[in-house]
Amino acid sequence: MKIIPFTFVAAFLSPQFLINFVSVNSMSLATPSSSSSSSREMSRVAAFQTSKQIGQTLDPCVVLMKDIIAKHAKKWEDKGDEIYSLAQGVVYWEPPKESMEFCTQALTTTDQRDTTVNANPIDGTSSSSMDVHLYGPAAGLPQLVSSLEEKLRIENNLVDVEVMITAGANQAYMNCVLTLMDKNSKAVVFAPYYFNHVMAIQMHSGDESVLVGQSVSLKDEYNGIYVPDLLWLEDKLGEEESSIRMVTLVNPGNPTGVSIPYSFMEKISNLCHRYGVWLVVDNTYEHFDHVGNNKIGDVPFACLDKEHVINIFSFSKSFSLAGFRIGYLTTSRKGPGKRMYEQMIKVSSNTFKLAYNCNFTNSILKVQDTIPICVSRMSQLAALGALKAGRAWADKKVATLEFGRKRILDSLKPLSNVMGGSGAMYVMGKLPENIDDVVSLAKDKVSI
Ligand SMILES: Cc1ncc(COP(=O)(O)O)c(C=O)c1O
Repeated sequence: MKIIPFTFVAAFLSPQFLINFVSVNSMSLATPSSSSSSSREMSRVAAFQTSKQIGQTLDPCVVLMKDIIAKHAKKWEDKGDEIYSLAQGVVYWEPPKESMEFCTQALTTTDQRDTTVNANPIDGTSSSSMDVHLYGPAAGLPQLVSSLEEKLRIENNLVDVEVMITAGANQAYMNCVLTLMDKNSKAVVFAPYYFNHVMAIQMHSGDESVLVGQSVSLKDEYNGIYVPDLLWLEDKLGEEESSIRMVTLVNPGNPTGVSIPYSFMEKISNLCHRYGVWLVVDNTYEHFDHVGNNKIGDVPFACLDKEHVINIFSFSKSFSLAGFRIGYLTTSRKGPGKRMYEQMIKVSSNTFKLAYNCNFTNSILKVQDTIPICVSRMSQLAALGALKAGRAWADKKVATLEFGRKRILDSLKPLSNVMGGSGAMYVMGKLPENIDDVVSLAKDKVSI
């Protein structure tokens, strides 16, 4: 089981610019005027510290699990057993062959080189996908972005959105946190939450920025499934001094394993809109909606097409491209996600000026340019290959999980409380009260 800025580019285009570039850099090498006494220097040395925020950030549980398993694997092997980490959602299948073909082709094709280095960083119109060694457009390769626009329209009912390719859904989320959050604002997550979301918020603005709601079982309307506590959220949003900037949902959920019904997603979205709060939805498991809770007509997994909603997607799960680190996010062009060039405003009858509105798209490009600059072009080609294989390919693979899913749900029936199993690849069961036995069982097996 397997379980540019443009001026910077210009610096290299003429000798004069090059001189400017060199002189600016040598200025920055000049020794700063020194007013510090040696005792101050000493106290600085004594104070090598890491940030308060990173200290408040959870330890990465997947990494911890890997360490524990590595420590004990040998013992288990000697007993003829194997040990698997269930801490990370990993599929057992390989990526589509088209992904590998596109990558191989890019590495072996040299005659299609596009020497136009200064691609437009917003939409990259002059960039060729074959130049895998070059930086690419910040938002993503145009071929991939336009293929995704089509996919999003057909499969997710997202009709007019701005797309940004990221190094996985995790980077997409971090981009959102860095773009939306102030140091003193708060972000809502619902327990049980996806640990990296909480870690992203903690490392940005500390633990006090994380507001945790619970998941509640809605007996009447939603057949007892666990969904985020809407009443609690309304209370929190309504508080006079609420500094909530964003609410995060994962659908289908990790680790809840719940496929949240579309009508419930709409309720949360309306609530967030009423209070002017961003809603960030992580759809990493869009292909794993086992009960079709988000299927609307011909649309297999409908997402919220609203001006305040940011949707996040990943190629890591259904297309098994986790190691390629590729995902994307979308914002609505109807609202704050408008393109920069659409921000040209009329000053007089025939004069326009560029308005540097702090809209989401412009702002998030700053984050993108600072962190990955652009996502690996090779990974983007692998993603293009996955889109060529398409949703039908992914559906077929996901269908192979059905037998195991049903068996696990059947075997958990004796438990009084089971959450999930309807989406993603997770299910949680409340263990009987004699929890000590379970702990000692784990201790015995793993000797921790
Ligand atoms: C909810 C959720 N979001 C994001 C990720 C990470 O996705 P990616 O590999 O695209 O960064 C995972 C992986 O387990 C996940 O479960």
